[in-house]
Amino acid sequence: MAGRASDIEERVRELLARMSLDQKIGQMTQPERTHVSPEEVKRHHIGSVLSGGGSCPGDNRPADWVAMNDAYWTASMEEDEDHLAIPILYGVDAIHGNANVLGATVFPHNIGLGAAGDPELVERIGRVTAREVRAAGVDWTFAPTLAVARDVRWGRTYESYSEDPGVVGEYAGRIVRGLQGGGGVACAKHWVGDGGTRDGVDQGDTVVSEEELRRVHIAPYVSALEAGALTVMVSLSSWNGEKCHAHRYLIRDVLKGEMGFRGFVVSDWNGVEPLAGDHGEAVAMAVNAGIDMVMVPERWMEFIGALREGVEGGDVAVERIDDAVGRILRVKFECGLFERGRPWGRRGANGSSFGSRAHREVAREAVRKSLVLLKNEGGVLPLDKGGRILVTGWGVDDRGRLCGGFTVEWQGVLGNDRIEGGTSVWEGIRAVAPGAVLGGVGGGGGEGVGGPPGMGEEEGDFDAAVVVIGERPYAEGLGDIREAGPVRPGTNHLPAGPGVLEPYGDTLELAVLHPEDLRAIRGLSGRGIPVVAVLVSGRPLVVDEELAASAGFVAAWLPGSEGGGVADVLFGDFDFVGRLPMGWPGGVGDAGEVLFARGYGLRMGVARRSYPPGAGTR
Ligand code: BGC
Repeated sequence: MAGRASDIEERVRELLARMSLDQKIGQMTQPERTHVSPEEVKRHHIGSVLSGGGSCPGDNRPADWVAMNDAYWTASMEEDEDHLAIPILYGVDAIHGNANVLGATVFPHNIGLGAAGDPELVERIGRVTAREVRAAGVDWTFAPTLAVARDVRWGRTYESYSEDPGVVGEYAGRIVRGLQGGGGVACAKHWVGDGGTRDGVDQGDTVVSEEELRRVHIAPYVSALEAGALTVMVSLSSWNGEKCHAHRYLIRDVLKGEMGFRGFVVSDWNGVEPLAGDHGEAVAMAVNAGIDMVMVPERWMEFIGALREGVEGGDVAVERIDDAVGRILRVKFECGLFERGRPWGRRGANGSSFGSRAHREVAREAVRKSLVLLKNEGGVLPLDKGGRILVTGWGVDDRGRLCGGFTVEWQGVLGNDRIEGGTSVWEGIRAVAPGAVLGGVGGGGGEGVGGPPGMGEEEGDFDAAVVVIGERPYAEGLGDIREAGPVRPGTNHLPAGPGVLEPYGDTLELAVLHPEDLRAIRGLSGRGIPVVAVLVSGRPLVVDEELAASAGFVAAWLPGSEGGGVADVLFGDFDFVGRLPMGWPGGVGDAGEVLFARGYGLRMGVARRSYPPGAGTR
C-alpha cells in the first residue's frame, strides 16, 4: 500500500526515535468513544479509539461517523511541542457488514457463509464491507472471527464459518484480502481457541493438547497471516486454565516468533484487568505477554498510569514498549493511514455506495447460497409463485431478527424499524408471489410468548404455508446455552458490577426454547396444509419435532438484511446449494447425537436460474 517494506521500517524507526514514553504509551491505549474526547486524544497521544457494539455517534448515519472520525483525526494530527502528528486508527466490529450503522448492507453471519462454501464470494463480501466501513470514515474492522466452533451451545457459534479448520482457513485468507484490499485494516480474532471452550461457554477454558490447539484453532491464522492480516485480537478465553491475555508463549513465541506475525496484537474488551488483583501487575503481565495495544474502554487513564509505573519500575522493559509501538506505527504506515488525509476528504467517505443496490445484491447472493435444505417431502419445494401461500411465524416480517447480534446494537434489534433498506422474508415473498397471504403476525416485534395472534388459525384453503421460526438476536455469552452463572465483571459490554449472566437458555431444543414455533407448524399441518419451516438461528438447534411436523425444512442461519434471498430460493428461481458447516444435533442435543453430518444439504433439482459458471460455489 504505502511503499516498500524497507522504507516503512525506516519511517517507523525515525518516528519512534522522536517519541517520548508518554507518547508511546498513548499509542498503545484504545479507549471507547463515549469515554474519550478529541481533545483527550491529543493530550494523551491516544493511538486508537473504538466503538463497542451499538456505540454510535449522532443519528448513526455515515455522515455522523465521518464527522466523529474527522474530529478524532484532526486532534491526533495537530503537531506541537508536546504532541506528534500520528493519525488515529478507529476500530469497529464490522463482522457482517458495517452493521452498527443505520442503512448498512448486512451480510449473513459467518455460519451462513460457511454453508455457502464459496471463498470467492467471501472475498467480495470483504471488499463491500470495507467500502461501507470506509464510507463511515473508519479504517479498522475487528474481523474476521476465525473461531472454529466445536460446541454449538456457544453463543458466538454464528461468528464461526465452520467446525472444520480447513474451511475457516480457506476463508480466512480471502476475507482478509477483501477487507484490506483498499487500505483497510483487518483483525483476526480471537487468538486463540475461542471456539473450543469446554461446554461452549463463552470466555471459558479450552482444554486441549497443544497438538489439537495447533491443528484446529491455530491453523486458520496461517492463511490470514499469509494474506497479510495486519492485526490480531486476543481471546478472553483460556487455554488449559491459563488466560490467553497473559499467555506469553502463545502471543510472543508462537504468533510473533514462530509464525512471524509483524502486525500488532490488541487485547479484547477489558481483557487485561481480570489478569491480577493488582492493576499494575495485570498491565505488566499483558504487555509482557506480547499485547501491543490495550482495549481499555473506560479506565484508560488508569491504564496509562499503570503502564508508565510499570516501565519506570522496571516491570516492563522499554524494548517491549518500543516493539509494541513500532508494530502499531508499522500498521499505520502499511495501510497508508499517514497518506490518507482527513476523513471528510477521503474518497468514499459518506459515499453513495453505502447500502447501495449493488452491495445489497452481493448480500442477497450470499443469502441464497447460505440456505441449507434439510427436508423436502413430496417435493413441496419449490413453491408455486401463483399458489395461495400462507406466510407466518414470529420471524416472518422482522429484518432485525434475520440480522441477529452485532447489528445496530451489540445484542441486535427486533423488528424492521432500525434495519433500513433490505427485505424481510415476507417482503421478499410478497414481491414474487402475489397470491401469498401474511398470517396474523403483529409487526414481528413479539417476544415469543404464546405465538402471534391468530398464527396458524387463518381461515381458508392454502396450497402451502411458510413458517419462519427460530431464535431472537443475541451476542456473546448472552447467547450461550447453559445454566445461568455469575457475570465476570468487566469483560463484557454489560453494566459493570456483580450479577448473573442470563444465557439464551439451558437447552438446544427449540420446542422448549420457543414452543410457539412447534404450535404454529402443527396448527397448520394438522389442517392438512404442507408447512415449509424456515429456521432463523445462529446455530443448529434440536428440531426433531419441528422437522417431523413440516414437509419442508430450511436452515437459513442469520441471513442479514436481504431476506428476499430466501424467497428467491423457496420459489425456485435458484436451487439450494448450501451444505451444513457443522454437524446438526438430534435427540436431546447434549448426548452428542448427530442428526445430519457436516456437509449435508439437499437440492430441489429444479431451478429457473443457475449461478454463472466460475461463481465459486463448490
Ligand atoms: C468482543 C470482541 C469485540 C469487542 C469490541 C468484545 O466484547 O469479544 O469480539 O471486537 O468487544 O466491541
